[in-house]
Amino acid sequence: MLDRGFLFGDGVYEVIPVYGRHLFRLPQHLKRLHNNLIAVSIPEPMTANDWGDMLADLVGHNAGEDQSVYLQVTRGVAPRRDHAFGKDLQPTVFAMSTPLEAFDPAITEKGIAAVTLSDIRWQHCHIKAITLLPNVLLRQQAIEAGASEAILVRDGFATEGAASNLFVVSNGLLLTPPTGPLLLPGITRDLLLELAVANAIPFREVDIPAEQLQTADEIWLTSSTREIMPVTTLDDEPVGTGKSGPLFHRMRDLYLAYKDRVRTGEAD
Ligand code: PDD
Repeated sequence: MLDRGFLFGDGVYEVIPVYGRHLFRLPQHLKRLHNNLIAVSIPEPMTANDWGDMLADLVGHNAGEDQSVYLQVTRGVAPRRDHAFGKDLQPTVFAMSTPLEAFDPAITEKGIAAVTLSDIRWQHCHIKAITLLPNVLLRQQAIEAGASEAILVRDGFATEGAASNLFVVSNGLLLTPPTGPLLLPGITRDLLLELAVANAIPFREVDIPAEQLQTADEIWLTSSTREIMPVTTLDDEPVGTGKSGPLFHRMRDLYLAYKDRVRTGEAD
């Protein structure tokens, strides 16, 4: 019970989808984990190869072609509760795999509802910390308002979702906020940008004023577990036509094709 993850939320995590028993974008997830451990001064307890072996073993022990792997590293157990930490603690590693819920095809057409909420989080949102109380409360507020996700606004600019990254199509151009301390460098986000480059879809990484959301043609949210979700209602108003848009469908097709290549082991 004295684990600092339990007492202080002192740790970092990854959520890695598994398709056809292949870990999706494993090197990118391990790189982000590595960066996060450095950022919070937790010594990395395993090498990239050992992480890979351990996670492959976990996937192998679970039924189901498609899984969702949760990997958490906390600072470990200290002899007494103290905010300050010693440097000699042994990090605690916890990993689990659960069946990956199949993406609801109705969402692809109908989209989801989102609400804008003030981004009440800290200044280090690029760190995937297990300390998620603000995200938990923001997501819950969205659910209780009849929506599925909150789009967070800080100093007049939209940053990301409570557990997702933000894309906006405005005047035909794909936009997403640049990475930095105010949002998580999402693995799904980065893959979408790679797919955009490879398929000559123009995009810009720019700050998105909150008002721009109201005039957007399309809004999407991305995450490892929910892939790409079109937001068709924002703050009870329709986004664009109120249906998922053409660029969403193009990007979703590219994403699905990429996923198929992961399944067959042609891509990671
Ligand atoms: N969350 N931003 C935040 C705040 C997130 O929590 C997440 C993912 C993302 C998307 O990142 P990625 O594409 O790497 O999943 C962006 C995970 C899925 C979670 O907490 O369950």
